[in-house]
Amino acid sequence: MVTIRRFDNADAHAVAGIIERCLREVNSRDYPSEIIERMCVHFTAQRVQELAAQRQMFVAETDGITGTISRAGNKVHSMFVHPTSAGRGIGRLLLRHIEALAVTDGYDHMETSASITAHDFYRRLGYVDVRSIETDFGLNHILRRDLP
Ligand SMILES: CC(C)(COP(=O)(O)OP(=O)(O)OC[C@H]1O[C@@H](n2cnc3c(N)ncnc32)[C@H](O)[C@@H]1OP(=O)(O)O)[C@@H](O)C(=O)NCCC(=O)NCCS
Repeated sequence: MVTIRRFDNADAHAVAGIIERCLREVNSRDYPSEIIERMCVHFTAQRVQELAAQRQMFVAETDGITGTISRAGNKVHSMFVHPTSAGRGIGRLLLRHIEALAVTDGYDHMETSASITAHDFYRRLGYVDVRSIETDFGLNHILRRDLP
């Protein structure tokens, strides 16, 4: 049973820990170590709290926090699922959760800037490529999905 709820500042260390595990164990397959290190420095617990103040941040919980996603309007940010919980539908639940909120707010599409690692996940979930960009954190794919 997976619950999705709003992030609380007390979750910051758990969320930062999941992001670091993802970066080191999953994203490291697609990006050089200097980019992974830069991203780990970027996503400290304090930074997670700062981001949560700027965006709507959510966590997925089973026995503990297993994933996170953030939303700013119709933009998807910072989706990470703990490597040991990957492939169980948590990423899909998180994404569909914020898409439903965007529909409620009147948006007709979602947008994301996806890592190479998550590119095929988004395409599987109905997103289509818009363009690719070079960022401070390496190559990213801009994708969008029309909302019902
Ligand atoms: C990408 C990520 C969020 C996916 O979360 P997840 O919980 O493992 O995904 P789900 O189990 O909900 O998968 C949903 C569907 O997408 C597919 N999928 C998941 N990851 C995929 C990938 N990397 N490539 C292709 N398909 C993928 C699943 O097989 C599933 O397909 P189905 O329709 O046949 O059931 C997770 O693997 C992750 O955190 N990756 C590392 C961090 C990262 O890159 N985050 C994104 C930053 S932009």
